[in-house]
Parts: sequence; structure tokens; C-alpha cells
Amino acid sequence: MKVTVVGAGAVGATCADNIARAELADELVILDIKEGFAEGKAQDISQTAALLGFDTHITGTTGDYAKTAKSDVVVITSGLPRKPGMTREELIGTNAGIVKGVTQNILKYSPDAIIIVISNPMDTMTYLALQSTGLPKNRIIGMGGILDSARFKYQLSLQLSCSPGDLNAVVVGGHGDTTMIPLMRLATWNSVPVTKFLSEEQQKQIVADTMVGGATLTKLLGTSAWYAPGAAGAALVESIVRDEKKLFTCCVSLDGEYGQKDICLGVPVTIGRNGWEKILDFGLNAEEQALFNKSADAVRSMNDVLKTL
Ligand code: 2OP
Repeated sequence: MKVTVVGAGAVGATCADNIARAELADELVILDIKEGFAEGKAQDISQTAALLGFDTHITGTTGDYAKTAKSDVVVITSGLPRKPGMTREELIGTNAGIVKGVTQNILKYSPDAIIIVISNPMDTMTYLALQSTGLPKNRIIGMGGILDSARFKYQLSLQLSCSPGDLNAVVVGGHGDTTMIPLMRLATWNSVPVTKFLSEEQQKQIVADTMVGGATLTKLLGTSAWYAPGAAGAALVESIVRDEKKLFTCCVSLDGEYGQKDICLGVPVTIGRNGWEKILDFGLNAEEQALFNKSADAVRSMNDVLKTL
């Protein structure tokens, strides 16, 4: 298997590091436009191989897409990250041009690749990648809900004093501070609804803290988070290359599912060798569906900005 990570910034490098450690690829390429940066990250990660015991061969390149040829999976992290106080949406003008260019270059050399989009605003960048390439919809996956669901589990685990690994909890909708929808009703602690153990007030706080999970970190770190976003990207790569068919919330093209069309939004999907394979449309209740529709409206108006660029 060959995997390429485009963008050697904090998210891209962390994603690459996770991919290498787990030996998800025989060949891993990191590409960046900043001179020598990807080469440096590739060497640094490669020098952990003897310590950590992995055999993934890692190459870094400054903008030479030929080196990414015949990649099975490509993770796109390029573009500007958020600064404190910034929404993901404010990045659209700059990042749209970058994501479009990167996707076209990638497909020149890897026409069969499955593409994972991490760049923000992720829902719109995923839609852009799909529209501008005309690829089959299953081959474009936006990374957002998997990360937001991990943050939801983190917040729940703090309140419940439990292991995040014992929790099942899902966030659907957009990957924006106001567009994501943590589904408290369906969250369980080893199959027992968490609502049995949490007051209304605690539930509200967990939902609110989950929704601003990324913004909270941006404020603390001065830029976007990278450990969890990088790990989430690598988890998607793992499910693809090992054909695990894991169920993750990802941003995918909807064609009537969840009552929406002509939009990419976060819903639970199985991820396997063909990209996203099946949407689990389990039926939101009226209140959740109303939030989902509102989220879709917000993402749609952001997608409309693409027409003005
Ligand atoms: C985040 O939420 C990078 O959008 C990503 O941290």
C-alpha cells in the first residue's frame, strides 16, 4: 500500500507519524510546498523507526507530485490553519484554491486514489473536491465527525469518570462550532444510555464543550489542534487499507439520505477498501432532524461562496 499525506504541518506530520507507527503503508510520501519541510519531517519520523520498530519507507518532497504516483490513499491537510478567534469558515477563500490545485495534481499521478480531506472549512472543501474532480462520491471522504465524536467521548469521559474507549457516541452534521450535532440521546456507556447518569445541565455542558472543542484548543495553542485530527486521519487510512469497514462519522456526499441532497455533511458511514461504502441512515428524531437541516443550510451557504471565488 502507498499512502500520501499532502501538507507537512502539524496535522499532516502527526497523521503521517501515526500511519508509519501502525505500518499502514509500505510506502508513505509527505509532500509540502515549503522548501525542505516535508523532507525534514520524513527524515525525523524515519529516525524513530529503530526506536519504535516499524518498517514503513517514508519519502518527503517539496512539491514533486511524481513522487506520490500510484498512491492508494491520499490525505489532504494543506491550507491555512485557524488562528485564535477565527472560525473554520473564514479560511474558505485561501484554502479553496489550495485544495482544488492539490486534488488535481494528485489525480494526475494517482487516478485511482481514495482522498481524505482534512483542510478547513472541511465540509465545503470536501464538496469542492468532489465537484471539481467529478470522482465517484465514495472516493472522497471528509474528516470531521470522527474527530468531533472523539471529542464528544472525551467530554463524556470527564463527566462520567470512565474510559473513553468504553463509550459509544456520535456527532453528525457539519464540522463547525455551530453546525455539529452531538447526539446525546444515542450515546452509551457500554450499551447503557449515558443520559441515565448525567443531569440535564451536565448534558448541555458536554454538548456545548464538544461543539467548541476545536476552538478551545486553537485559543490554548495559538493554532489548530493536531494530535487528535492527525490520529483521526490515520484511523480513516487504517480502515481503508485494512478494509475494516469501521463505522465512523465522515463528511460524505448525500443523495437524499438524512433528507439532504447536493451537499457533503457528516453522517455515520462504513469505511473500507472502496472508500466510504455505506451510509447508516438510522432515523433522527424531529428535533435532531431540525438541527441537521439547519446545519445543512449553513454549510450550503458556505458552499455557495465557492461560486464567487
Ligand atoms: C479541528 O477541529 C483541525 O478542524 C480541525 O481541530
